Amino acid sequence: MAIPSPAPHIAAFEQFGYGLFLHWGLYSQIGQGEWIMSQQRIPHAEYRKLADTFTAEDFDGRAIARTARRAGMRYITLTTRHHDGFSLYDTKGLNDFDAPHSAAGRDLIAEFVAGCRAEDIVPVFYHTTLDWSRPEFTDDFPAYLAYLRDSVEILCTNYGEIGGLWFDGNWSKRDADWEEDALYGMIRSHQPNAMIINNTGLGNCGALGHPELDSITFEQGRPEALNREGMSKYVAVEMCQTMNGHWGIGAADFRYQSPKEVIENLAACRRVGANYLLNVGPTASGAIPDYERACLERVGDWVSRYDECLRCARPHPAKAQHASDFVLAHPDGRLFVFVHDLGVQGSADVVVRGGRGGAMALSGIDRPIKRVRWLGNDEDMSFSHDADTGLLVFKATGYPYGVHHVVRVAELS
Ligand code: GLC
Repeated sequence: MAIPSPAPHIAAFEQFGYGLFLHWGLYSQIGQGEWIMSQQRIPHAEYRKLADTFTAEDFDGRAIARTARRAGMRYITLTTRHHDGFSLYDTKGLNDFDAPHSAAGRDLIAEFVAGCRAEDIVPVFYHTTLDWSRPEFTDDFPAYLAYLRDSVEILCTNYGEIGGLWFDGNWSKRDADWEEDALYGMIRSHQPNAMIINNTGLGNCGALGHPELDSITFEQGRPEALNREGMSKYVAVEMCQTMNGHWGIGAADFRYQSPKEVIENLAACRRVGANYLLNVGPTASGAIPDYERACLERVGDWVSRYDECLRCARPHPAKAQHASDFVLAHPDGRLFVFVHDLGVQGSADVVVRGGRGGAMALSGIDRPIKRVRWLGNDEDMSFSHDADTGLLVFKATGYPYGVHHVVRVAELS
């Protein structure tokens, strides 16, 4: 059965590959995640006092966009409004629970978008669909949905062309009529090239939703390859994941991913053609915390070496002997083999961790191969290839002492 081809905005999104997710809002001042209002049952009247101390004094849209670019990311998805109902954008009189009415006194989304534009980063707007501060959410759902659409329309009409809208919260009322036709139709009328995404949540990773949606989501999960045969529309795949165990800053959560883990997760996403949306929770005042920045930069060093095979190379059916290794095909005809757990070569007197090296076998290499070498390196590796069976074996040299890229890429050309 035929596989539909992606609309241009979906193809472009897939080539971004790697993006920064930011959860930032009033809750960031408490430092215990973005669910604190609900978890501690803080009444709206009490919670909204946090707006009086929300200065955003360290929030610099340009600096954040520069951090993302340095990290090798191409887009940023920022919480314009989270479940607490507070908006980082100017709600233009729809309510006064927004950044211009807080101590910040500014439209933070305008600053974010301007910063992204200056650094050639695509801005994407996360927007909650559920709301702990609006009584209509429980009392008069149709009225609430009209308010939600009016809110989103502000985002669609005041900030120029945006990369997408990323919704989250429909899982809170699974059986409700969310009037998705009306919401998505309104977005398309203003922003025909925006990605429209609606997170299906932890329990429903990879579920297909409304036909207008442009990507499926894998919240905190390893994405799987999507079989698109017979689908009426090509949709992208995106995995979002926290850098520790919190979306909004968890100031006492030390269970961070290491750069190694981030590299492996990014590779696992690209293996199935998925985007990796890695989350950071900025500080109370809007800065990227120190560890997160350093981790992003280290991974950025890796991305800059492997950029050419991370964006437009797509999954290839060849199979590697080692389960975590895989092959991507570049449109120019090259194949890239992502090799994990490669050892370091060195004298027996230096203490280096183990790891693999030597013969590596791949099956399903369906095209003539003249050369095998490490990407970004002129070192050729010996190989043998049987074009009839598709079996290719190459002799992987280990890392030179002083180098370890976690995942190394061999180029078959
Ligand atoms: C979950 C959480 C929400 C977070 C989202 C990010 O839906 O409820 O707080 O924003 O994941 O994917």
